[in-house]
Amino acid sequence: MAYRHIPVMLDEVLEHLQCAPGRIIVDGTLGGCGHALPILERILPDGLLIGVDQDPAAIANAATVFAGREQNVRLFHDNYANLPSILASADIAGVDGIVLDLGLSLYQLESSGRGFSFTRDEPLDMRMDTDAETTAGDLIHRAEKSELARIFRQYGEERWANQIAGAIDRRRRREPIRTARELAALVSEAIPKRAAARSRIHPATRVFMALRIAVNRELERLESFMDAAPRLLNPGGRLCVLSFHSLEDRIVKHRLRQHASTCTCPPGLPVCTCNQQPQLRIRTPKPAVPSPAEVRANPMARSTRLRAAEKLKWPEEIGKPKPPRG
Ligand SMILES: C[S@@+](CC[C@H](N)C(=O)[O-])C[C@H]1O[C@@H](n2cnc3c(N)ncnc32)[C@H](O)[C@@H]1O
Repeated sequence: MAYRHIPVMLDEVLEHLQCAPGRIIVDGTLGGCGHALPILERILPDGLLIGVDQDPAAIANAATVFAGREQNVRLFHDNYANLPSILASADIAGVDGIVLDLGLSLYQLESSGRGFSFTRDEPLDMRMDTDAETTAGDLIHRAEKSELARIFRQYGEERWANQIAGAIDRRRRREPIRTARELAALVSEAIPKRAAARSRIHPATRVFMALRIAVNRELERLESFMDAAPRLLNPGGRLCVLSFHSLEDRIVKHRLRQHASTCTCPPGLPVCTCNQQPQLRIRTPKPAVPSPAEVRANPMARSTRLRAAEKLKWPEEIGKPKPPRG
């Protein structure tokens, strides 16, 4: 049976994407098709949904969800960072909308058996793409202690990164750390009791998030996609990104600002020399957040940040002479 996902901020996503019959829309993170299905309904009868997910289980699921809709749906088991080549392979020069809903699906967290949840006795895998080489177990057992500490500090913003890396190093010299639950227990022991008691989240939350980000190279992939995004969109096309932690949101915010900026010269230059032309108009000066009602109904949505932008139309909006500086 096909699995589904409760789509986060669905009304807002649909509003920003402006789905209409005949449009070509990319869902770069299909998951349980929670966004993709209502998008498809709005672009029928002659629109095209391009669905991408790096998890083969999500693609197999989507094939079931969209059975009989093959004329309007193309599915790709791939990374959204490869969208330029995915679209080129499908002979598509530009699309009218792209949505990314970053992070893990409920299926991956609860049923994939890949050790994403620290409450389970599952192997330390954490690959979203099960064809990828490196698992969380490989990192835990092979990375230098200092590299582990860097991962926990940089990707998990974990204050006790050195202590946790040290505890892992001591344990792995004696015996392998086999399951997610074993690792979670080890992390809990490595953190001072008082700090753990004060925290509102499970002591292993940040370490698990950091490992997942490292295993799936999530931030590099997001940066690479965000660099390419404007040239994938048709004029007037929309981009909508839902992120779940500050590291992701910061990347989206900065890249959108760069693409929307008229000038990237260092401050103080008397004349503009960069010749930067804005590509996008930002539609969300501040990130949109889920309504209190949505958070009550789906507490997992509480940390969502939505940012959206629109590709400028040429030549009316791009290519205007630049105003003088200052
Ligand atoms: C939060 S879920 C998406 C849920 C979906 N919007 C829904 O409502 O059903 C995120 C999905 O994106 C996929 N994913 C995450 N990073 C990806 C990437 N870089 N490329 C392709 N898929 C990715 C994951 O495998 C997961 O299935």
